[in-house]
Amino acid sequence: MFKKSVYLYICLMVALCVSCHRNATSVSSPDGQLKLSFDLIDGVPHYSVSRDGQPVLLPSPMGLTFVTNDGDTVSNCGWQLSQTESASVDETWETVWGEERLIRDYHNELTVHLSPLNTKLSSLNLSIVFRVFNDGFAFRYVFPEQEAKQLTVLDEHSSYVFAEEPQIWSIPWRTEYYEALFEKTPLHEKDTMNSPITLEMADGSYAFIHEAALTDYPCQNLYALNGSEASSQLSTFLTPWMKDDQVIEDKAYVTTPFATPWRFMILTRTLPEMVASRIMLNLNEPCKIEDTSWIRPMKFIGIWWGMHMREWTWRQGPNHGATTEHMKQYLDFAADNHIQGVLAEGWNLGWEGYEGINNDRFSFVTPYPDYDINFLSEYAKQRGVQIVCHHETSGRANEYEADLDTAYQYMQRYGMHAVKTGYVAPIITTNDGHQINRSQSGVRHYRKVIETAAKYQVMIDNHEPAMPTGLQRTWPNLMTQEGIRGQEWNAWSADGGSPCSHVCTLPFTRMMAGPADYTPGVFAFENPVIPGTRVHSTLCNQLALFVVLYSPLQMACDKIENYQKHPAEFQFIKDVPCDWEQSRLLDGQIGEYVVMARQERGGNDWYLGAITNETARDITIDLSFLGEGEYEAQIYRDGDDAEWQERPYSTNIETRVVTANDQPMTIRLASGGGCAIRFKKL
Ligand code: NOJ
Repeated sequence: MFKKSVYLYICLMVALCVSCHRNATSVSSPDGQLKLSFDLIDGVPHYSVSRDGQPVLLPSPMGLTFVTNDGDTVSNCGWQLSQTESASVDETWETVWGEERLIRDYHNELTVHLSPLNTKLSSLNLSIVFRVFNDGFAFRYVFPEQEAKQLTVLDEHSSYVFAEEPQIWSIPWRTEYYEALFEKTPLHEKDTMNSPITLEMADGSYAFIHEAALTDYPCQNLYALNGSEASSQLSTFLTPWMKDDQVIEDKAYVTTPFATPWRFMILTRTLPEMVASRIMLNLNEPCKIEDTSWIRPMKFIGIWWGMHMREWTWRQGPNHGATTEHMKQYLDFAADNHIQGVLAEGWNLGWEGYEGINNDRFSFVTPYPDYDINFLSEYAKQRGVQIVCHHETSGRANEYEADLDTAYQYMQRYGMHAVKTGYVAPIITTNDGHQINRSQSGVRHYRKVIETAAKYQVMIDNHEPAMPTGLQRTWPNLMTQEGIRGQEWNAWSADGGSPCSHVCTLPFTRMMAGPADYTPGVFAFENPVIPGTRVHSTLCNQLALFVVLYSPLQMACDKIENYQKHPAEFQFIKDVPCDWEQSRLLDGQIGEYVVMARQERGGNDWYLGAITNETARDITIDLSFLGEGEYEAQIYRDGDDAEWQERPYSTNIETRVVTANDQPMTIRLASGGGCAIRFKKL
């Protein structure tokens, strides 16, 4: 985040142009290529988008249906334009951590102020703010200060009418915790979808639709309208509230003045440009934490994979994982291997409830008797390692909220600055009763956790979250989130584990919404406990994931004995950072392969991760991204006979000296394989 310092130059100009009752108006990107036009058609707000004069989105209806405190229902028809405003911004800001240190926010803005045609509602005001960047556009609905104080949003009509039918990668809306494989189909074959979605447009360009700055509103979801090829239209539906265990019509309760989250669409000709887009972060508010010195990205290991492999248990018993003895071994291993943190799941009372043995409530301040927190926290301090705390709630968000202050005070007392939170329950319980976690109530809970954690200098790794929307710009203690079909599925999934193509799809889909706690780094692929499941990858693929899948809290997930068997390969995990100066997708195709390069923040070294799906292939690495001078390339590549099912451990480690001007490097990736390279500046 987001230091207050503003870099390079700032140019802000605001022009107020009063254009009473004129209906059509437009705004273009700073480079002039994208043009967004606004119009009212029969009183319904519409927008359309073109690129270089070619239509991308045809007039697409938008707006909200809401009920005022007087009980009037106001729909998205019946508006007139009262005034427009425009503004331009060009500023560069610095992140606290991230894929880039410096981010440029360069856009033109158009605000349309609307008033109802119905004179009975004449005191109502609604504005729509549009921003157009060189790589996409965004809009949000704003209720300015007005007489109507409390509004209930029943529906949002934001839609996307495509000039030509796109192909879409998405997961269905119902998916629990967003843990599914993204599937590509033409739009007309889609039904409901979680946000975000990734699109391949008819002309071969790419797009990405998601929301930004979700703080007090339900998560957006999308659906294919009519599901017909001809219409090629997507629309929005908001996650509803529930009452007495039934879904109700109400979506959001707002108090004016109020602004909804941003809806945004990235539009780029190429995948490297799409992945480099920072629109989502730019749409979030600047950092609200004054002293961010305690917020530090780190790698961690943990008492974790053993539970997912069914060797250890969370609850107490003969195979309890989080014992003093195990934790001490993990702390020693971390200290000896340049790993900054160790997670212990199952350290606290309450897991009998999680595992269905009783209904115990979790305690966030009571360790199990075989986990000596006094000794361990002292030992961790001596060895210079942080203990990463764990708060599973089983979806009982209300109980967690009641315990937040004491839980974080306890963490402070024992020197813990990071916590992994968890909400395993299809429907969570908030202070508003049983609710979908992506409802407004759920979103409010997650935000309360982030803000309270910031007070106690606690960094968050949120499992079973609402989909990330770039809030880490405002609250950089929100480090990483799950909301992904992560590595753990490879330990127990009935389908045998995620296909190799999954990790080749993620950088273009889920990862576009922000960091994910995928947990790379499995070094032992057999699973005797649940035969048939397996990590579909080679060992080098696992190394490459540390670069490909970004997370500022990056977990190397395997048990330490498996790392001890492969010290030469583990060296890459010791070296690789998780905070970057800059990041570049060098090459890739969605679901097929990915070549990602990132430069260490505050250093000169570059790191590269390349992965492929089931198809073995040669990749060519153009080295011109390197800086001046010589680099020692420390290359971890698949052995010549490697492939993920039979010979995943076959690895070649070699070094050579390279410069930016050298001939491109060609490297063979095995089926399910990968390559990780550290370019060490000489
Ligand atoms: C599900 C999480 O994704 C996993 O990482 C965790 O170990 C369990 N819940 C228990 O909290």
